[in-house]
Amino acid sequence: MITINLLEQLKSETLSNHQQLEKHLIVKLKGMQNPDDYIRILQIFYAYFGALEDQINQFIGIDQLQDYAERRKTESIKNDILALNGIVPEKAAPGDLPEIGNLLQAFGALYVIEGSTLGGQVISKMISKQLALDDNAGISFFKSYGEHTMAMWGKFKAVLEHHASSQHAADVITEAANETFGKFRLWMEKN
Ligand code: HEM
Repeated sequence: MITINLLEQLKSETLSNHQQLEKHLIVKLKGMQNPDDYIRILQIFYAYFGALEDQINQFIGIDQLQDYAERRKTESIKNDILALNGIVPEKAAPGDLPEIGNLLQAFGALYVIEGSTLGGQVISKMISKQLALDDNAGISFFKSYGEHTMAMWGKFKAVLEHHASSQHAADVITEAANETFGKFRLWMEKN
């Protein structure tokens, strides 16, 4: 019997893309001098995650992921931008996004979005340290689930695993996750 370990496969096969993206983002975060620089980063996330979320919503809702309504949405980035008096940009165009044409590809992309809540715990601290934001305004997206982050991640992983019923399914999810990371890095480079 073949055992499929989607979670291990996802983590190891997307590691290189994660590291490249992380490096890129850290440069941007360390270079922030003022709230406008931070707004620029939020705008990059809003445009990409927002367009991605619209695609994902065509395949994933509360029937596929029971607590989907409680999960962090792109709306929180919009609120952060507005709290800092920034302009909410247009969402990215389909050509800048990974291919999301079925449930498995949607889960691959959502893995990247949900996983970013883990890095968010580090990122929100970096932002607070670097910028003196009034009452930590505009930081809700990166704080995401706060102290519940690991629990939310655990619940998400359990559902994800359930959908990897074959090696083929695991490969489709992994490929979509890698494309989601890769296209985000390109988006970050050109914006
Ligand atoms: C400064 C930037 C970032 C830092 C410092 C960072 C850091 C981390 C850390 C510490 C973990 C947990 C690793 C573990 O417990 O094993 C993690 C996991 C993850 N991060 Fe990031 N991250 C960053 C940016 C991002 C971004 C922008 C995304 C997505 C767009 C992302 C997606 C993920 C994913 C999907 C995982 C889950 C890996 C797995 O266990 O399968 N990260 N990150």
